[in-house]
Amino acid sequence: MIVLKTGRELSLMREACVISAEALRAAGKAVEPGVTTAEIDRIVREYIAMRGAEPAFLNYNGYPAAACISINDEVIHGIPSSSRVIEHGDLVSIDLGAKFNGYVGDNAATYAAGDISPEAQRLSDTTRESLYEGIKVCVAGGRIGDIGAAISRYCEARGFSVVKEYTGHGIGAHLHEDPSVPNYGKPGRGTRLLPGMTLAIEPMINLGSAGIKLMQDGWTVKTADGKLSAHFEHTVAITTDGPKILTQL
Ligand code: MF3
Ligand code: CO
Repeated sequence: MIVLKTGRELSLMREACVISAEALRAAGKAVEPGVTTAEIDRIVREYIAMRGAEPAFLNYNGYPAAACISINDEVIHGIPSSSRVIEHGDLVSIDLGAKFNGYVGDNAATYAAGDISPEAQRLSDTTRESLYEGIKVCVAGGRIGDIGAAISRYCEARGFSVVKEYTGHGIGAHLHEDPSVPNYGKPGRGTRLLPGMTLAIEPMINLGSAGIKLMQDGWTVKTADGKLSAHFEHTVAITTDGPKILTQL
């Protein structure tokens, strides 16, 4: 069931999304060689608590942290650890959410630790740009398939591949609501986009092939070929005035 939000609900949700975006900005600033992923998770927890909000991921399906921090060939859901030290040249994806006013915000971005390879930079830039390509077509009257088609066309034209097993999602009072938002699809297919829909759009893009594997910890998803992956996410509202990026500062 898709829950459409009123204008008033969207303004409450915007506050949760701003807190999420500010927490992500703080986490991103902390990315540098020598820092552990547990330290970044602590910064996220403290920021969210300081704003009187709650980490949306902590305890979600048993997830043990406030942020997912996925490095290099880790695609998503990397669990922060005091033994995981960020190294020079790492590509670090941070994903986090906050709950406030009864609503959830969800966002992610990929950061460079020191100098990264040109191909890592191109992967990260392309993934971020593809998110905005997907957001552009979040207009009332469009279809869910338009979003994934825009994202996959953009990334595949540049030689990268789209992870298919994990998708974006509706979001609101709950972290995951209907509909599912795949990063691939056919234009004009799928659920119609309506004003009041709120979607988390989150391309997960691989440098090599699209295949992934789940690690023994039950959470961490890595590329099957060991090559790099990047991830960007915004929470977006579809309105009669076009897409509104709720997690944009
Ligand atoms: N942003 C991710 C998602 O939307 C991470 C949530 S999984 C969690 O699916 F368990 F860590 F919360
Ligand atoms: Co999400």
